[in-house]
Amino acid sequence: NYYAVVMAGGVGSRFWPVSTPDFPKQFHDMLGTGDTLIQKTFKRLSQLIPKENILILTHENYRDIVKEQLPSVAEQNIILEPAMRNTAPCILYAAMKIKKINPDAVMVVAPSDHWIEDEVQFVSNLQRTFDVCERDKVLMTLGILPTFPNTGYGYIEFNKLDSRPIKKVVQFREKPDYVTARKFIQSRHFLWNAGIFVWSVSAIIDAFSAYQPAMIELFDKGYDLYNTDKERAFIEENYPLAENISIDYAVMEKASNVYVLPATFDWNDLGTWGSLYDKLPKDASENAVVNANTYFNNAANNIVRTDGDKLVVVDGLNDYIIVDKEDVLLIYPKRKEQDIKTVSQYIESNI
Ligand code: GDD
Ligand code: MG
Repeated sequence: NYYAVVMAGGVGSRFWPVSTPDFPKQFHDMLGTGDTLIQKTFKRLSQLIPKENILILTHENYRDIVKEQLPSVAEQNIILEPAMRNTAPCILYAAMKIKKINPDAVMVVAPSDHWIEDEVQFVSNLQRTFDVCERDKVLMTLGILPTFPNTGYGYIEFNKLDSRPIKKVVQFREKPDYVTARKFIQSRHFLWNAGIFVWSVSAIIDAFSAYQPAMIELFDKGYDLYNTDKERAFIEENYPLAENISIDYAVMEKASNVYVLPATFDWNDLGTWGSLYDKLPKDASENAVVNANTYFNNAANNIVRTDGDKLVVVDGLNDYIIVDKEDVLLIYPKRKEQDIKTVSQYIESNI
């Protein structure tokens, strides 16, 4: 009864110029380990979920990349979205397709682009959440102990009197502003949302019925066609009509039956060059290097990446991101890493 849905339709714009709309970060070997992030995700999940029950959700444009990078995934397990509508529509669509195959299924929804090193702990945490969701009609998420007021994450308030390992969620707040995030961290009963969700297909479909009735109505119209030859035409026509909204705003903030398991593995969402830098090995001057030969002098805390072992010489530069790609060379201060998203969008459309 175990299923996994891997979300691989994002663009990863803060990792420009390596990550581009044509070839986003989940399809790159960001860590220099030999596997792309989606390949790592697939291997991690297949330790608990049978391969034939792992579905990849992505935009039509990335179909060939997924097929090439995950050759063991069957064609019918690659779910193609004709339009980018964020995570809520694709999760509901996948849940309905799975429900039609197996109404008792429990599914994990996992991002395709995160760093998790301790796979043993990951699998054991996942197993616990599956056990709960097989029994109870609840929505589960994995929580991470926060270390700073990151405004790019969802925050989960749990009941501080609850000493059980799995805690009832008091409130879920997606991407609070900085002042709110700081308050949350100081209060000590908030966790970051890792973006990894577990629920039975019936629990999530019920939650959509309660909080997103229009979306349920839209996808329900095609229910009889799912997993048949007529599915594609229905989806091409109807999927673009779905509201563009993430699962966090669409369901998690609104639902009352949400539970969290504080994760016992280290996690990093690899959202920015700085977060990648944190996870890479460093030299004595704290420089991190992927795919490059480097000569550093009087240079510290930099991250350097090239397309293929280029020699990079750096002198007198600290705390910079240096990324060389065929047609772009990025030299950018680490402290402004969040701005790369805006800059890349400006450049892709104007230059
Ligand atoms: N299939 C598909 N279609 N996948 C998508 C789409 C889409 O339209 N949009 C995004 N994704 C994928 C991304 O590739 C990523 O793996 C995952 O869904 C989450 O999307 P992000 O865009 O990266 O979300 P976020 O980082 O802003 O926020 C989410 O993740 C945080 C942790 O990394 C939220 O769940 C936060 O609450 C959470 O803290
Ligand atoms: Mg993300």
